[in-house]
Formats: sequence, structure tokens, C-alpha cells
Amino acid sequence: MNKILTKDVFTPSSPAKLNYVFRKEVNDQLFDALYTSGKQVVVFGYSGSGKTTLVRNKLDQIYSCYIYSQCIKETSLNSLLLDAFDQLNPFYISEQGNKVTIKITDEIGVKFQNISLALKNENIKENSLKKVRLLPPQLTVQNLAKFIGNIKACWVIDDFHKVRPEEKQKIAQVMKLFKDVSFDYPDTKIITIGAVESAKEIVNYDKELEERLEQIHVPLLSNTELNNIIEKGAKLLNLNFTPTIKNKIISLSNNLGAVCHQLCLNMCLPRGIFQTRDNSFRFENEDLHYTIERYIKSKSGSLSDLFDKITMTKRTRSYENNKIILKAIIDLNLESVSHSEILAKIKESHPSYPQGNLTTYLKKLSNFGIDEEVLYFNNSTNKYSIRNPFFKVFAAMRFHQETSMGNNTFNINVNTGDISIKGNIHIDHADRIKFDIDSIE
Ligand SMILES: Nc1ncnc2c1ncn2[C@@H]1O[C@H](COP(=O)(O)OP(=O)(O)OP(=O)(O)O)[C@@H](O)[C@H]1O
Ligand SMILES: [Mg+2]
Repeated sequence: MNKILTKDVFTPSSPAKLNYVFRKEVNDQLFDALYTSGKQVVVFGYSGSGKTTLVRNKLDQIYSCYIYSQCIKETSLNSLLLDAFDQLNPFYISEQGNKVTIKITDEIGVKFQNISLALKNENIKENSLKKVRLLPPQLTVQNLAKFIGNIKACWVIDDFHKVRPEEKQKIAQVMKLFKDVSFDYPDTKIITIGAVESAKEIVNYDKELEERLEQIHVPLLSNTELNNIIEKGAKLLNLNFTPTIKNKIISLSNNLGAVCHQLCLNMCLPRGIFQTRDNSFRFENEDLHYTIERYIKSKSGSLSDLFDKITMTKRTRSYENNKIILKAIIDLNLESVSHSEILAKIKESHPSYPQGNLTTYLKKLSNFGIDEEVLYFNNSTNKYSIRNPFFKVFAAMRFHQETSMGNNTFNINVNTGDISIKGNIHIDHADRIKFDIDSIE
């Protein structure tokens, strides 16, 4: 059997490759869009739904190369153009020592070299704070589209939701210009990816662009797809996850691929499984138990930070809105809850709590585009759920801690969907939380 590394199979922090699970509907939609000349593409959906993984796997299949730019808050259109240009360098120019030669000697290749020289000679503007690379006037969007088209590539702009609104505005114009070069370069297009709820939040398109824009929504991974990740991974590494263990991992993953990959990886490492096993290995319930405990412990710093961040309130507020809402959702102890259920629960302890506050703060807690979105709002059921089941466990523990002041050890009994975790938490002198989980059912 071919040996494969466990870290290449279970990839919580990077796009899955070896253990990529095929998702027919979005795959077909993306394929059609990529295949249609002149179509520009916007891929959108919740953070962690698998957008980057989908796009990169599909492009690997159908393009021999592509330009990949990842945005951060500071990204501007100019910095994107420069980033793409830099990535094109090896296709047009080869540099060995001091010797620079053009690989493509046609008109476009020469134009590329001229811009490259311009960039080398006079591109740094000293600024008191940082160095800013200046865009040579010849490095226009049209020219960039031609450079990308000439090598039959496309351009992926990932995490576009992070970019400032004024820079975002410009992308629709850039897409239009790319659409215009499709007559000469049919393969060239821009694929913009963003963790938002609608394509419009990424590209403010007009009628003209709308017809040439494919909007692809990537839903969170279904339970069947998560099951496929576990089974495919098990096959690659010669492992056996029992149906009970599989179901528990799926349930705890809350449709997030990263959590599923992380739990599977955490199952393997304590057992010393770093690559494909010669003989099949079967996991027992204790392995899962230990894995969950480890996962919660490893995340307790970040979960604690998140808890403090969202429950911190300005003194002037009459209500600790986020805290009240989060506690009500946890106390309801259901997989997902409606606005009216939450309100009824809150009114048990705060009879005058305004409905408007609930609406506003529910929206904030389920806001897209920030790293810490806490709630998941399901449009079809109109219900809210806590996105990360481990955060749910953690928050429940913290609420418990607050109501049991003076008592350092107390029982926990938390239901996250169909998983119930029972055990004790102990708060030590440094306010660190220690978990002793007795059972996970
Ligand atoms: N089709 C798939 N098969 C196997 N694993 C997947 C698949 N899609 C996503 N994953 C896994 O899920 C996790 C999240 O995927 P990915 O980073 O692609 O999501 P994303 O939508 O781009 O998230 P973000 O908006 O935060 O960038 C990764 O660990 C990835 O390996
Ligand atoms: Mg991504």
C-alpha cells in the first residue's frame, strides 16, 4: 500500500487535496462557468464552507496554471495588480544570475519586460511609515488581462470580503475589462471568492456585468459530505472509524470541514498514526473521548478570548445584550432556535427586554465577514444555532462558572445537538479552566 502522510489527508487549516470530496452540484456549476468564455465568476458562502478548496481543486483539473491572490484588509486594487504581475514573472522572464532573458518574445512578452524594467527602476516611493510600490502607468488592467490570457491562465482573488469598501467598488470595473479581452483570450477570467451571503456584497455589478457574471453559492458541507471526508481519509490511511464514532464526529463538526478534519487528525496523532498503516487500525470510543477533550483544551485560549470579547459591554448599556442572548440560546438547549423562542427565554429573567435589541444583536452575532461570527442563521428555517459546538460547550461552562461563584468545581452537562457532554470543570487559582469529561454520548 502506498504510504500517505496523515497531515496530508486530514487538513484542518488548508484546502483538501488528497482527501478532496467531490461536490457534484457546485462542481458542475463552477465547471460550466469556467468553460464559458467571457464569464466572470463570484464564489460566495459562509466561512469554512469549502470555497477555496472547491475552486483550487477545479482549477488544478482544468487550467495548467492560474494566478492566485489572497486579500487582507490592506489590499488595494493597485496591490492586487502588482501581486498578479509578480506571479506572472516566471512565465515571461527567466533570470539566472545577472542574465535576464525574455521567454516569450512576441509583442506581449516585450511589453511585459518593459513594465518589469519600469518596476525595477523606479517603483519605491519612500513614505515616512512604509515603502509603497508604485504602479507603472503601463500596468493597466487591460494589459494585465492580456498577460494572463497569453499564458491561458485565469486569476483567482480570494477572501475579497476583507477588502475595504472603497477598493471593493473597483472590482466590478476590472471584471468588465477582463470580460472584454475574452474575444482574444477565451480562457481568461477573474474568479472572486468571498465569505459573504450574496454575490452583490462582493461585486457591485450592473446589468451589463450581471449577464456575464456567474454567481456560485457554496453551502456548508452536508453530513453526507463530512461522512465522505472521514471515509475517504480512513481508506487512504487504512483506518476504521466505527459508525458511532463517525456520527459523533459529524455531529460535532456542525457542517464545518475544518472541525471534521481536525477531529480526525486528533484521533490519529495520540495513536502514533502519522502515515498509512500497514494493518488496519480500529478506533474505540475512548479515542474520540480523548480527542474531544484535547480539542477543547487546545481551543480554550481562543474560545475564552472570543467569549470575553462578545460578552464585554460598555457600562452605559442597560442590558448586556450579547451575554443575555447567548445564555438564552444555551439554556434553551436545542440544536437551533427561533427569534421568538429566544425572546421568550430572555423574558423569563428580563421581563422588559426589548424585542428590537434582540433583532439587532442577533444580526451582529451572526454577521458575515468577521472571523468570530458566533451564530449561524439558517435562511430556510429562520432559526439560529451556535456555529462552533465547542464554543457552545465553553460558553455554557463559563455561564455555569459565573453562577457558581466561590465553588471551584462543578458539573457540566451540555447538549450540542445530539451530543451530550458530561463532566466536571475546575477553575484553578489563575482562573484557568480544567476539563474532566466523564462521558460523551
Ligand atoms: N470538498 C471538500 N473535501 C474535503 N475537505 C474539504 C472540502 N471542502 C472543504 N474542506 C475542508 O474544510 C475546511 C474549510 O475549507 P475552505 O478553507 O476551502 O473553506 P472556505 O469556504 O474557503 O473558508 P474561508 O471563507 O474561511 O476562507 C478545510 O479544512 C478543507 O480542507
Ligand atoms: Mg477560503
